[in-house]
Amino acid sequence: MSKKPFYITTPIYYPSGNPHIGHCYTTVACDSIARFKRMQGYDVMFLTGTDEHGLKIEQKATAKGVTPKEFVDEIVSEFKKLWGFMNISYDRFIRTTDDYHVETVQKIFKALYDKGYIYKGEYSGKYCTPCESFWTDSQLDEKGCCPECHRPVTLAKEESYFFKISTFADRIEKLLTETDYLRPKNRANELVNNFIKPGLEDLCVSRTSFKWGIPVSFDDKHVVYVWIDALSNYISALGYINGKYDDFEKFWPADVHMVAKDIMRFHAIIWPAILMALDLPMPKHLAVHGWITFNGEKMSKSLGNVVDPFVLGQRYGCDAIRYHILREMALGADSSFSNEIMINRINSDLANGFGNLVSRTVAMADKYFGGTLPTEREAADIDEDFKSVILDAVSKVEEHMDETRIKQALETIFAAVDRANKYIDETEPWVLGRDESKRARLAAVLYNLLDGIRIISALLSCFMPETMPKVWEQIGASEADIAYEKLSVFGVLPENVTVHKGEILFPRIDVVKEIEELNNIIKKNMEAAQANLSAEEKGEASAEEIELAPEISIDDFAKVELRCAKILSAEKVKKSDKLLCLQLDDGMGGRQVVSGIAQYYTPEELVGKKIQLVANLKPVKLRGVESFGMITAADTPDGVKVLFLDDSIPAGSKIR
Ligand code: ME8
Ligand code: MG
Repeated sequence: MSKKPFYITTPIYYPSGNPHIGHCYTTVACDSIARFKRMQGYDVMFLTGTDEHGLKIEQKATAKGVTPKEFVDEIVSEFKKLWGFMNISYDRFIRTTDDYHVETVQKIFKALYDKGYIYKGEYSGKYCTPCESFWTDSQLDEKGCCPECHRPVTLAKEESYFFKISTFADRIEKLLTETDYLRPKNRANELVNNFIKPGLEDLCVSRTSFKWGIPVSFDDKHVVYVWIDALSNYISALGYINGKYDDFEKFWPADVHMVAKDIMRFHAIIWPAILMALDLPMPKHLAVHGWITFNGEKMSKSLGNVVDPFVLGQRYGCDAIRYHILREMALGADSSFSNEIMINRINSDLANGFGNLVSRTVAMADKYFGGTLPTEREAADIDEDFKSVILDAVSKVEEHMDETRIKQALETIFAAVDRANKYIDETEPWVLGRDESKRARLAAVLYNLLDGIRIISALLSCFMPETMPKVWEQIGASEADIAYEKLSVFGVLPENVTVHKGEILFPRIDVVKEIEELNNIIKKNMEAAQANLSAEEKGEASAEEIELAPEISIDDFAKVELRCAKILSAEKVKKSDKLLCLQLDDGMGGRQVVSGIAQYYTPEELVGKKIQLVANLKPVKLRGVESFGMITAADTPDGVKVLFLDDSIPAGSKIR
């Protein structure tokens, strides 16, 4: 009988910066599901990859003085390195710069054009460059900014192709509200109310203002809108209308697309519309998870406030990291990555809970029976409850995995671990071991424990694939013993099983010492980030000998958004004699800016004053304090002078 296919995908990630723990979450979650399905006997296709086109990448490459392809090649290799290190068992890795993908996207675009779903028109609207998204006026936030990232949008006007997405509005609404597509389903309302009810406007699906994209085959001054390009990866990777692969019939529709909430909209509206226009079946599920934050803040690689996944993996093993991120994140909610929580979890669940269960059991089999269990057994009623909890866990885990509830699957497995440890306390093997007449009972207890560990460790191998083979070695389980169909029965290990004492699976970590060391690493990273920053700053200062910067156009200037803001409070940044941390009323709900003016102004001189704020500057962290924008000042022979504004200008006014 041929195996049933199962197709699961991660988003294809932007190789605009190195991968971080956030990318790890989706990838590790999909990997665990893929491994689970393989264990269940499915023929699994697990796809991941990179989304390499778009203005953002083009700009970053230009800034670095390399071609876009050179730029992405380097980062893509970092992604692949991390996935290797994290034991990600992807079956296929797609890059949107691959020829076969380009071929598919061009053919899809042409097919939609030929069917009349794509037409040529003129676009005039708002574009958010960081999000690569066009927005209609009704979608902008209260400040007229991007509704996703709340950064300013620019006016874009150009000849464009449009996709008549509104044709599918009713069908999309039904898909979201009446089917099982969206997980968790309670997000459907938000999508319907924000995007479908106000009226789906035709989507602008081509650009002429930059080159780094897939050319429209019949009109090559246009490149295909990055999201049409990116979403198509899920079918081009199977060989849909390209000659590279031949797996489309087998694997489409996908069983699970997993994404974080930031890109839910694209997968819940645009992707179904493309598929509907192509007359293709809908994917079965879109699983949407929240964000991972780091120590309570949104993590950022450039700021150095993150311990690199590689560094953590080298210290604790990648399984511990996989476990931590999967265990903390519930579908639909945000979760935080914290070194403290991770270390405490390693200690409580992995070292004390599971690791201790294995090492105690193996050590007792070794101590009382020289490693090989005798075959006489004496069962007791108490064994049945223990066995039923373990066997129940298997069916519950299966249900949770089918519903993409990974956190709950792990909770179930660790409840079984706790039950097993309790069984040791209840049966007191060390008491039995003192009494020669209780040998058959002792053998039964240890056998039940070993066989319970067999089932638990097989389930855990999907989440912690590196450690579990070591467990099988220790408990004397063969590959056949851990086959999925053997997990729903007790008594699979040979009666005279032989255990092998092995290394400690998860060494206990000294929390205080370790946190201190990690904090030192973070401090060093941040100092390095800081040093880079001041090098740049120094560079700017030395170029200052009245030599004008290269000429710019009015459009270039318009990229800088200056706004009037009022200083509400100011205080010195700890351990810095240059920096002041300012709280501003920027007319948009307030923000914090760190400014290097502490040597020139006291807080009292500043509070209540109106200043000029560079409002769309990328946030940075200075001495550990986040700064959202900067205030303008003049360099004078007497030092730095802040440009104060007339008090009659309201906070938030735009400056031109
Ligand atoms: O959006 N917490 O790529 P991207 C949890 N190229 N998940 C996170 C995360 C965090 N802090 N940061 C990133 C794109 N992710 C497009 C996708 S798909 C056709 C095109 C994960 O590199 C999460 O899965 O910005 C999120 O959806 C994805 O990375 C976005 O990755
Ligand atoms: Mg993103």
